Amino acid sequence: MRYVIGIDLGTSSVKALLVSQAGDVVDEASKSYPLNQPQSGYSEQNPEDWVTETLAAVSTLVKSSGVSPTDIEGISFSGQMHGLVLLDEAGAVIRPAILWNDTRTTEECRFIEQQLGDELIQITKNPALEGFTLPKILWVKKHEPENYEKATTFVLPKDYLRYRLTGALHMELSDAAGTLMLDVAAKNWSQTVLEKVGVSAKLCPPLIESHECVGTLLPEMAEQASLTPDTKVFGGGADNACGALGAGVLSEGKTMCSIGTSGVVLSYEATGTQDFNGKVHYFNHAAPGSFYAMGVTLSAGDSFSWFKNVFAKDEPFEKLVADAEQAGVGSGGLLFTPYLVGERTPHADADIRASFIGVDRSHSKKHFVRAVLEGITFSLKESVQIFRENGKDIPSLISIGGGAKSDFWLQLQADIFNATIYKLENEQGPGLGAAMLAAYGCGWYSDLETCSEAFTKIAGTYEPNPENAAAYEKLFAIYRSVYTATKDLNVRLKDFR
Ligand code: XUL
Repeated sequence: MRYVIGIDLGTSSVKALLVSQAGDVVDEASKSYPLNQPQSGYSEQNPEDWVTETLAAVSTLVKSSGVSPTDIEGISFSGQMHGLVLLDEAGAVIRPAILWNDTRTTEECRFIEQQLGDELIQITKNPALEGFTLPKILWVKKHEPENYEKATTFVLPKDYLRYRLTGALHMELSDAAGTLMLDVAAKNWSQTVLEKVGVSAKLCPPLIESHECVGTLLPEMAEQASLTPDTKVFGGGADNACGALGAGVLSEGKTMCSIGTSGVVLSYEATGTQDFNGKVHYFNHAAPGSFYAMGVTLSAGDSFSWFKNVFAKDEPFEKLVADAEQAGVGSGGLLFTPYLVGERTPHADADIRASFIGVDRSHSKKHFVRAVLEGITFSLKESVQIFRENGKDIPSLISIGGGAKSDFWLQLQADIFNATIYKLENEQGPGLGAAMLAAYGCGWYSDLETCSEAFTKIAGTYEPNPENAAAYEKLFAIYRSVYTATKDLNVRLKDFR
């Protein structure tokens, strides 16, 4: 039997999956690393941690699986998007990576809008948002000119990891789409964007497709990963693109809801002609020649982890969810908005912060937990609404990530989205999509659709309960007005953070 490894380089951890040619996940290993928040709105990581922990996770995986390294033919990646890694002439990292959920770049976003006007959405298909890479480059140029001067190139997190494993420097297309410097339809760096904002084209690395083979592992890296230096290495994809691959979102009409640290509702787009006027993100898919549109909740699973860390550190997630189930639809009149680090969709707002509204003396922890889960799901429903209002029919969604790990949350998605929810067997998130890219790249399948038939298996269906769906529709209208009611308050509170 032959195998591939899919690496999911996430925000809180890296997860490695060993997948057989038949699409079965035979083993997995995970290692975590810190997220640094030196001040409110800042979010950074040390790229060296990604390399060290990935090598450790892969080595653990290979050893615990008992599979011979010579049977592991290829490796590919899924990566947290948008993070800026600046490299000097020697290929060394210049400063900590600035991540996708860092919102320090509001001024730079306004500058990009002034310089490009309508051309920005025409070329990049996206508006200027704090999380994207170009505003981060401009922030370094302005605030750390000495670092900017040293930079000869920039990469994204999983592209940096691949560079370290192989010595070959590239940027893969589905991730490059999230830089705000790519002409998304033409699939090349936009000279217009670069010239108008004053960033040298020399900083932009060569582009590759997701399934492209960039070479094999460097011998010293192979040794640390307990693999052979013959292991082929493939481009990989943005985590959301890989999540979509793993969920089989490869044709028009398919939609995914993924809840990791962030949460996304992602819908397949065949043509690259629609841009939803920048209301949702619009990127190149990891499947050649296709695209996807996506709404993003910045703190989805992160809201739940935050709540647990602060208020219920010693209680397992499973117990918190089981108790929340008892709190009833609407959490006894308690509403939560998940704006812990600002928001992207539908409110591109770096200043907004989270709220609990309607706290009553009768409420206990279970109401708060349920309100958090409902609030995250309401936020994702805002993205579902944008798609529906723009003519997309969304009768069903495939759910992956943390939100797919409990029957309760899956049913909550069905009730709040008022749609059928599918759960996958072996729910593995974006790592499975990364493994599919390696499997396709190795030539095991003629295309990703055929690969998906083997790798993507539906394991369960959740239908909306009409009574709950009706109640959630009413609550959703109240949820939506919390943003407007708390916007100015949060601007005034900003000075106290
Ligand atoms: C998408 C985004 C997040 C990250 C999380 O635009 O910023 O979903 O990809 O890793």
